Amino acid sequence: MGKIEVNNLYKIFGNKPKKALEMLKDGATKQEVLDKIGSTVGVNDASFEVEEGEIFVIMGLSGSGKSTLLRCINRLIEPSAGSIKVDGQEVLDFDTEELRSFREKEFGMVFQNFALLPHRTVLENAMFGLEIQNIEKSERERRTKEALNLVGLDGWEDQYPAQLSGGMKQRVGLARALAVDPEILLMDEPFSALDPLIKKEMQNKLLDLYDEMERTILFITHDLDEALKLGDRIAIMKEGKIIQVGDHEEILTNATNEYVENFVEDVNRSRILTAKDIMSNPVELLYPQDGPRTALHKMKNNGLSSLFVVNRQKKLNGIVYIEDVVDLMNSDEGKDFKDIIKDIPKAEPEESLRELFSDIADLNAPLPVLNEEGKLLGVIVKTDVLANLASEGAYDGN
Ligand SMILES: Nc1ncnc2c1ncn2[C@@H]1O[C@H](COP(=O)(O)OP(=O)(O)OP(=O)(O)O)[C@@H](O)[C@H]1O
Ligand SMILES: [Mg+2]
Repeated sequence: MGKIEVNNLYKIFGNKPKKALEMLKDGATKQEVLDKIGSTVGVNDASFEVEEGEIFVIMGLSGSGKSTLLRCINRLIEPSAGSIKVDGQEVLDFDTEELRSFREKEFGMVFQNFALLPHRTVLENAMFGLEIQNIEKSERERRTKEALNLVGLDGWEDQYPAQLSGGMKQRVGLARALAVDPEILLMDEPFSALDPLIKKEMQNKLLDLYDEMERTILFITHDLDEALKLGDRIAIMKEGKIIQVGDHEEILTNATNEYVENFVEDVNRSRILTAKDIMSNPVELLYPQDGPRTALHKMKNNGLSSLFVVNRQKKLNGIVYIEDVVDLMNSDEGKDFKDIIKDIPKAEPEESLRELFSDIADLNAPLPVLNEEGKLLGVIVKTDVLANLASEGAYDGN
């Protein structure tokens, strides 16, 4: 049994939910429902299971229904149809009182723009979630201080929000959710307003906490890098539907193309990203005089499963894969290192990402970018491409 089991969940906004449901069940799209009867489809027939102790990430374009789905789970939004079971209990059957106590025990919620109350201290802000509960003041304080300590804010209890950085404010938000000590954390783009360095720091903090506390976490993000860093499994939403659920590999290799294409359609394509915009320096290279032992050593040190071979002028010879290196070392057939250097697709610096995408998606190695003389200028890594396409900012100007 999953910790959370969602089955055939629907949420319709607007006046004719029954009619809209019928239409959806007959196969109508979100757009058709809107055009015909003016109702907005928030969630359309979502079914998935979240295991206990898992970080389950939900991704999707703006408006695809992520927040609506998350809020249905603790009934901040009333679903129109379907079933939500937590620990086997049907959440939709709870009356107001049952729901209140269930929410308190099970759920902590963290939002994107955490609204802190400006005239309350950090401690008072973080204690907020406990105040509505019937808990003695000293106990509330103890638990809140513990939560602030967990997120690295001890010593800041008596400061006011204006004195905190953006990352610290988000951590107060996280502490507020943790103070309640919930079984499940619902996190709706909690870090997306933060600048990249602080975002990384918060992600690491969350992973540390997660290791310590073993909570079940539902985490919404737009950012594929973030999804891959945090998620055990990733669900992708489109027009209210969950179109794919999978682990990292499945998400990166299978239907990701469609998702990324959606992104590409969605953003302003006036500025087209090219290979040279997103290539990076290779972490390590091989030279013709290197042998299998050097190759293996360099691969191990850098956690790589392949390396490019270049000559002194940095002209590309080809690529060497770790399987072939290992084979070579284990065989006594007098095979030479040269023999395991393989050919690979190549990109030109001005080629657009769109043209390159299928090459990159199919490759099990980075894509090398070469100039006219065949010199290696940089490499394109699959996750970089996806993250770049996924962050709308990449198209906004610079
Ligand atoms: N209170 C509401 N009333 C009417 N329609 C709503 C309401 N909340 C959401 N919607 C609609 O439901 C759909 C899903 O919205 P939702 O906010 O869940 O998307 P999202 O995936 O969280 O987007 P974002 O990434 O921008 O946060 C959208 O079409 C939206 O317009
Ligand atoms: Mg949202």
